[in-house]
Amino acid sequence: MTTSMKAAVLEAVNAPLIIKDVEKPSVGVGEVLVQVKSAALNHRDVWIQKGQYAGLKFPAILGSDGAGIVAEVGSGVDVGLVGNEVIINPGLNWGDNPNAHSKEFKILGLPDDGTFAEFVKIPAEYVHQKPQHLTFHEAAAVPLGGLTGYRALFTRAQAKKGEKVLVTGVGGGVALCVLQFAVALGAEVWVTSGSDEKIAKAKALGARGGVNYKAEDWEKTLQAEAGLFDVVIDSAAGDGFKKLIELSVVGGRIAFFGGTRGAITNIIPGRVFWKQLSILGTTMGNPSEFAAMLKFIEDHNLTPIVDSVLPFTDAEQAMRRMDNAEQFGKLVLHVS
Ligand SMILES: NC(=O)c1ccc[n+]([C@@H]2O[C@H](COP(=O)([O-])OP(=O)(O)OC[C@H]3O[C@@H](n4cnc5c(N)ncnc54)[C@H](OP(=O)(O)O)[C@@H]3O)[C@@H](O)[C@H]2O)c1
Repeated sequence: MTTSMKAAVLEAVNAPLIIKDVEKPSVGVGEVLVQVKSAALNHRDVWIQKGQYAGLKFPAILGSDGAGIVAEVGSGVDVGLVGNEVIINPGLNWGDNPNAHSKEFKILGLPDDGTFAEFVKIPAEYVHQKPQHLTFHEAAAVPLGGLTGYRALFTRAQAKKGEKVLVTGVGGGVALCVLQFAVALGAEVWVTSGSDEKIAKAKALGARGGVNYKAEDWEKTLQAEAGLFDVVIDSAAGDGFKKLIELSVVGGRIAFFGGTRGAITNIIPGRVFWKQLSILGTTMGNPSEFAAMLKFIEDHNLTPIVDSVLPFTDAEQAMRRMDNAEQFGKLVLHVS
């Protein structure tokens, strides 16, 4: 049996990912070894490469998203799992409280070695049957973004059929999942993007309309076209967040899971409390939400949007493409 495998390794801050031979992980008690067929990128991988993430360690094998085949099981795990086609939940050690994660919570792909490798080991409870209607490439596009988007939209913002939902920066991996979920729910969905082309693609996926956030007074244009929103799902934050408050109905809910545009320094308190707004931080999701998200995808026969599938050897090129926000949908690596 071979004891080495190929992995895309990050050796230092700002270093390119290098494909090299590393030791193949060996499964421990309660774990499974998954042969990764496909992996997908998240912005998290780019933040880590740039050194803008807590708990850095090198060398590191990044990658939170993956789908593949169970190759081996450790003791205590049903051997019947071997050969199963699976998708991995990357949110580890959530803990007992469904409302918030525990101190031990961690995301696959730092500190633990992730999916940018031919094999990844993971406790058995984090592998789920791959939805049958999805290919490995499509399945790999689901986990982190789908989980984050599901919790943001359903658990935190409590979006309902018929409500008006704004998804900002729709070109983002999570944002696109939110768009698909909200359309499937039967909400009236509007989007923003820095690219008119991405807005047109979002409309083709069921968005009612959208505006380019690079245009001056975009929020006024949006309000004139769409009115105010019951729910806003954002990951940009920054001083532009103020506009989302203005765009919300009285009693509206804004859920956000990222801070791509940095700190919010300009919120006028009265605009939030007088409008009875709920501003909801959210991160990833708990194991029940992961299972519910997969069921939602299966029930609605949803296929995640894949921007492109690159050979594993182009992992670094995929990272640059994400860094430049060129993609519409997930960047997937064909690993093995
Ligand atoms: N807390 C969590 O659990 C969690 C989970 C996943 C991601 N995140 C964070 O959420 C953010 C997005 O992650 P991702 O993986 O979806 O990244 P991504 O695929 O790289 O998407 C980032 C998107 O941000 C949008 N954007 C940039 N400037 C914007 C602005 N001023 N207003 C609105 N949108 C803007 C862009 O949308 P357009 O291309 O349409 O312009 C871009 O595509 C990152 O900061 C990430 O670290 C957090």
